[in-house]
Parts: sequence; structure tokens; C-alpha cells
Amino acid sequence: MTIKIGNTRLKVFNCLVFLLVIILIIYLVATIFFMLPNFNSEYKYEINKSNYNIKVNTKFKHAWFNCHVKEIYDVTASDELIKHKLLADLKDEGFKIKGKYLYRKYTYSGLCRDDIKTYKKEHNSVIFNLNDKDSITLNYKEEYNDPYVTLKVNEKNSKNINVNSDFNSNKIGTYIVSYNANISKYYTEKLYRKIKIVDTEKPEITLNDSYVVVEYGKNYVEPGYKATDNYDGDITKKVVVKNTVNNKKSGLYKVTYSVRDSSGNKFSVIRNVEVKEKSSEVNKEQSNIEVKDGITYVNGILLVNKTYGLPKDYDPKVNKEAKKALESMQADAKVLGLKIPLVSGYRSYITQENLYNKYVKKDGEEEANTYSAKPGHSEHQTGLAFDVGSVERSFANTDEAKWLEENAHLYGFIVRYPKDKTDITGYIYEPWHIRYLGKDNAKKVYESGLTLEEYLGIQ
Ligand code: DAL
Ligand code: ZN
Repeated sequence: MTIKIGNTRLKVFNCLVFLLVIILIIYLVATIFFMLPNFNSEYKYEINKSNYNIKVNTKFKHAWFNCHVKEIYDVTASDELIKHKLLADLKDEGFKIKGKYLYRKYTYSGLCRDDIKTYKKEHNSVIFNLNDKDSITLNYKEEYNDPYVTLKVNEKNSKNINVNSDFNSNKIGTYIVSYNANISKYYTEKLYRKIKIVDTEKPEITLNDSYVVVEYGKNYVEPGYKATDNYDGDITKKVVVKNTVNNKKSGLYKVTYSVRDSSGNKFSVIRNVEVKEKSSEVNKEQSNIEVKDGITYVNGILLVNKTYGLPKDYDPKVNKEAKKALESMQADAKVLGLKIPLVSGYRSYITQENLYNKYVKKDGEEEANTYSAKPGHSEHQTGLAFDVGSVERSFANTDEAKWLEENAHLYGFIVRYPKDKTDITGYIYEPWHIRYLGKDNAKKVYESGLTLEEYLGIQ
């Protein structure tokens, strides 16, 4: 097919084609010239330090007179803490996290070719090493002299290093010291050293008395101790006491005190306790038994038990002094976070009779007799006895029961039916049943470690 075109029109067409060819050539030359660095635009290298490793992939991409650099870091570290610090430092340097990699982009104005050269030269000319070990363990309060680092840029020593750390030799813990050397605008070298502060010193326990003599049957009263630790200070509350003293069996006993500080260092010490032979001195006091209006008093103390009863019409109601003492004790216990509500107080002869009969019906007479007094034989009829806290047997394991056992005497009460004294009192352990004796007598009975019967010499 032939196209007929006039001469003039043909010339214009030729000019346009020529111009287009020229533009195309210029474009191709320029593109080849500026694109050149892209042919060699990926630079991979690895930073190997003793406690971390970074694989770096740097890509250079040219766009006319600018060189766009993209660095991709693949970071691993032998220690989580160091990795954490390293990542934080890299974030500060403008790196962003993308999956398991970190990357940042920046632009140089100029040719990538020149930047690649500078980049390689910089990375090859730096020597940056830790002096001495990368992990140091120090004892609490031990002096620390930083072994520092060596930095050489172009074989010349340099001191252009930033040291960062929250290191505190007075606090047990693991610290990371980081050393940062700013080599150039986009190039910072990093080093990390781990420092552990540990406490290996054992705590100490001092006993107020390392040898204690206890009279037969009398309570062993703890003479006191104190535990101190070079790091934790006073750790007396952490002391675990193992006490095997049996004041009803003469012999030599050991009370062991053990403590462990917050670093796990242990220390133990022993107190020797001698329980003396039972002598005729114990309970030698004469028991003065008086019976007034059918009520038995031994050495002035009203006594009610399985042997000594009360008249049916003895109906004193609750004793006001005892009630007041109970309220004062309950208030103090409350301050300590302990609840000892009144469960049962004064009970008349009839009330006790109904109660006892109910128990006999439920458990049989033999069983009922181990925990319930027969009418006329209950301390509750005196108005001087109270059941507090809870009358469930599990009450024995509560802080309240423990506190009552150790403190009731300070308010004038005794725990009337103590543990392991059933053969004497005739009743099971009743940690809830307290009997008012007045402060003086309660203290004496408590310190004797005896039941009221034993204390009064009535067995
Ligand atoms: N539970 C005591 C022994 C009483 O019944 O008086
Ligand atoms: Zn009771």
C-alpha cells in the first residue's frame, strides 16, 4: 500500500522523527549513566559481636540525582536483655520493625555509586571491640571498674563513645552497659556488656539466749531472736522456727531457727532447751477447797468441771467484768484483722440441759460427754465462759485460734480445754472456749503451761 504525501509535509515528518530519535538517545544515555550503580546496588555484610549478630542487607536505588538507601537488619542475640536493648537502640536510630527484620530508609543526594564506596569504606575501616569479658558477675557492693572498649577508625584510636547504663552496684539485678560509637551520620557501632550483681553472703541469726532451762510442766517461752541480712536488712519475720520442746518430758531439746534471704542464701542456728526433771516442787502449793452455797472455789477460783458442779438454781447471768474483758479483746483482735465473734456465752442450767440432751440424742451419751458438759457442770452457767470464733473443729487451724491461745491471758482469759489434755479436762480440744479468771490468775495459769485443774492441784 502506497501513501502519497507532499514534499513539504514529508520534511516536517522527517524532522519530528529525527527529534524523537535524539530525545530517545539522550534518555537512554542518561538512564544508563544514572542507573549504573543499580547494577551493583546490593551490599550484604555481617556484624559479628560476642553477644549479638546482625546480618545487614543494604540496597541502593538511584533516582536521578538522589541515592535511596534501604537497610534491612536481621538481628539475633545470645541474651534476651541484650536483644531488648539493641532493638531499642536501633529504634532510636530510626529503624522500624517489620516482622523479624528491622529496616530504615534514607536518601543521599548524589550518585549511589559514590555512596556505596563511602559505605563500604566506613564499614571496613572500623574496629570496635569490648575489652575483657562481655559478661561480668559482681558481688553486691563490690567495686566495679569498667574494662571499657577499643575503638579504631582508620587504624587510629578514637574515644568518641557514649556509655549508657542504669547500672547500680547497690541493687541486685542484671544490667546492660551499652557503648555507642557514632562513626558517621547513618553509622553507629554498638557493643553491650552484661553485669550481674549478686548476693552470696549468708544472713545471720542472733539468739537472745542459746541455752534455756525450763521447769518441768512450764511453758517454754521464746526468748527472742533477730535475723539480719547484708542485703535485705531485718528479715526476722522470715525466720522459720522448729520447736520440739515437750515440757512434759525432761531432756534436752533443740529449737532450730532457719532463714533464707531474697537471693536464696540460707542460715540456721540452734537453741538448746533443757526441760528439767519433774520435781516434788511442782504444784506443791496446798489446794484450799471451799464450798459456798454449793459452789466450789479452789484457792479462791470458782471451779466447775466433771467433778465439781453448780446448783440448779445458780443463775448469775453473764459476768459484767468478763463481758467487758471479752469486748476489749475482740476490739484488739479486730485491729489485727482477726474476727472472734461471740458464739455462746451465759447458759442457764435448763439451756445446758436441753443442749446436752440434744447432743446425746445425736451422738450417744459417751460421745456427747467428750464435748458437752452435763447440766450443772458447764462453765457457761457461771457467766464467766464464752465460746468465740467458731465451734467447728477446723477453728483450731485458724489465725484467730492461734492468737487466742497466745494472747487471751492478757485479757484475763484462759483457753480452758487445751490440746492433748483430754485426760485431765475430760473434754476434747476446744480452742474456742475461754474462761475468765482475771488478768493475774490467767497469766499465772498460762505461764504454768498447765490446765486449770493441774494448776489448782485438783486432778
Ligand atoms: N463444751 C463445754 C465443755 C460445755 O459444754 O460447757
Ligand atoms: Zn464452751
